[in-house]
Amino acid sequence: MNRHELLRGLHRVYRPRNYLEIGVNDGRSLALSRAASVAVDPAFKVVTSISCDVHLVQSTSDDFFARKDPLVHLRRGRNPFRALARRDPLAVFGGDPTLELSFIDGMHLFEYALRDFMNVERHSHWSSVIVLDDMLPRDVDEAARDRHTKFWTGDVYKVVTVLRKYRPDLTVVELDTEPTGVAVVFGADPENTVLKDNYDDILKEYVTPDPQDVPEEVLLRKYAVQSEALLGADFWPALVRARNLRRPRRGFAPLRRQIAELGG
Ligand SMILES: C[S@@+](CC[C@H](N)C(=O)[O-])C[C@H]1O[C@@H](n2cnc3c(N)ncnc32)[C@H](O)[C@@H]1O
Repeated sequence: MNRHELLRGLHRVYRPRNYLEIGVNDGRSLALSRAASVAVDPAFKVVTSISCDVHLVQSTSDDFFARKDPLVHLRRGRNPFRALARRDPLAVFGGDPTLELSFIDGMHLFEYALRDFMNVERHSHWSSVIVLDDMLPRDVDEAARDRHTKFWTGDVYKVVTVLRKYRPDLTVVELDTEPTGVAVVFGADPENTVLKDNYDDILKEYVTPDPQDVPEEVLLRKYAVQSEALLGADFWPALVRARNLRRPRRGFAPLRRQIAELGG
């Protein structure tokens, strides 16, 4: 399964009512969304039909998140009729937009992808789903910070290492997608400041010159799960219910156990 087939599957099983995409390129991943969407890329070149209500933002993700109200397009209460049509009763009454499905696929350098994750998490809920692309480079050349290959993951795979070390409260599932793997993160906590508090130390440790010392377990996809197993798992209806009802964080524990059963 490739990343687009996985995303199509996530739209099907999780039915997000909104979608954020960082890194649009020609629009093939954005084309899979039917939800209210925000899509950010300083140099998009969309060549395919887009079938969602989208705010296409020509900006880097850092500049986008520095805006006063970056997700205004998804703001609840902005259009109560649309909120009703989206079967999102809470949305009718206004309030801050909470991201439901996010896809981080912008600049392929570790510190950029880490900041994208931190910014996305600030606007998420534990029941949100955050997907990071290019988490499983196939060789050291592909993982170089200085691009010199056709397929390029850069060193963004380090985000998974950092999340496992600094954020054991999250559940990170690596998926064996073609060509370069993804990670799906569950249990976002917008109040958590651990990454922000340790940001400088993290960069000192993880931003290293090429060639990158890519761990064997990443190259061999040792902990990667098949996408079909994730998409076919039993927890999706419960996650969707928790999201729609904005259940408190204690609702995460039983789902977390079910997600962990996927292995990896
Ligand atoms: C791999 S492509 C995205 C592919 C697309 N998501 C898909 O699956 O079809 C990466 C995109 O990230 C964009 N990009 C580069 N730097 C960025 C940044 N700082 N913020 C947001 N997007 C960025 C590039 O312009 C490029 O179009």
